[in-house]
Amino acid sequence: VRSVRELSVTGKRVLVRVDFNVPLAGGTVADDTRIRAALPTISYLCERGAVVILASHLGRPKGRRVEELRLDPVAATLERLLGRPVRKVNDCVGAHVEAQVAALGPGEILLLENVRFYPEEEANDPSFARALARLADLFVNDAFGVAHRANASTVGVAAFLPAAAGFLLERELAVLEGLLGAPARPFVVVAGGAKVADKIGVLSSLMARADALLIGGKMAAAFWSDSAAPAAERQAAQEILARAAACGVRLLTPVDAAGVLNSGEGRRFWTAGSDALPAGGEVLDIGPETAARFSREIGAAATVFWNGPVGKFEEPPFDAGTKTVARAVAAAPASVVGGGDTAAAARAAGVAAALSHISTGGGATLKFLAGEVLPAVAALASSAGAR
Ligand code: 3PG
Repeated sequence: VRSVRELSVTGKRVLVRVDFNVPLAGGTVADDTRIRAALPTISYLCERGAVVILASHLGRPKGRRVEELRLDPVAATLERLLGRPVRKVNDCVGAHVEAQVAALGPGEILLLENVRFYPEEEANDPSFARALARLADLFVNDAFGVAHRANASTVGVAAFLPAAAGFLLERELAVLEGLLGAPARPFVVVAGGAKVADKIGVLSSLMARADALLIGGKMAAAFWSDSAAPAAERQAAQEILARAAACGVRLLTPVDAAGVLNSGEGRRFWTAGSDALPAGGEVLDIGPETAARFSREIGAAATVFWNGPVGKFEEPPFDAGTKTVARAVAAAPASVVGGGDTAAAARAAGVAAALSHISTGGGATLKFLAGEVLPAVAALASSAGAR
């Protein structure tokens, strides 16, 4: 895939696909991580005198204009972070947008409206992709977080313009390729979150490369002998167990848990061995013995990949396990964290700055690590004028 560095951009109109799918609260951007992550590419283009046209989705408006999902709050945050004016149009294509682009000078920035206001975006409609391409001379994709979606602004447009990867996309691919290639060992994978069935692909792929797999979070319940988890979850857990044995990977599941029991006498917090959980008790965290074991295992690692909090970290005291894991991950020589929840957990534990890499992708990261080809990356590789 060609790099933005290899394009001659001065005086050119460059359409940049970014992933500004950020959480909003009260009409403002609640977490600007993804916007910050795109700044190097945007600044680079501005400094070289390109006309910069930014396109992003926000949320899932399903082809309709949803007022709360307009990109105006994103434009305001971007302007503040860049220290440059950012114009915003209420549309993505058409004569009005083309006129706005024509009025821009070198180094100026225009943010298009949420591309998912058009049903043609997710349908990857070639005429919509062509209309986007008409705005620009070159296409740069820096939207790693949505690289697993074959949409008009991620895949379609690359057929009509010379295309390249931005700095964020390049770095994400390099770091994640490193995990699939020859990670420094021991390589330890920590997985949490809700459903093990959703993660079979990525866990299988990583197990073929890892020395240990540590499982926490809601998904861990599927591994317990008298598990009340749904059949599909228990089935998935059995598959993981079988594969771990085949790969010779050490698999650690929780030996104890913490949670809460709501009864007539009120709320009672409990900690118990995983073979002696209180009846009717809700599991909300790994227990202290599991946290200590996980911490030791991570402490011996040269490379760690962590996806998914191991407990309900937004509700103390059930953040204890995730905080212990986060601190251990951050102390590893190479640490890669994927998924918005996990990044938030690392920030809540105060260790985000110590991590080697926080991926801006959720689904994209897991698909890539599962060994799937990301359609947006494939589109760059085969775009007009690509090597
Ligand atoms: C994400 O947040 O994972 C990406 O922006 C993709 O969003 P989507 O899952 O709505 O396609």
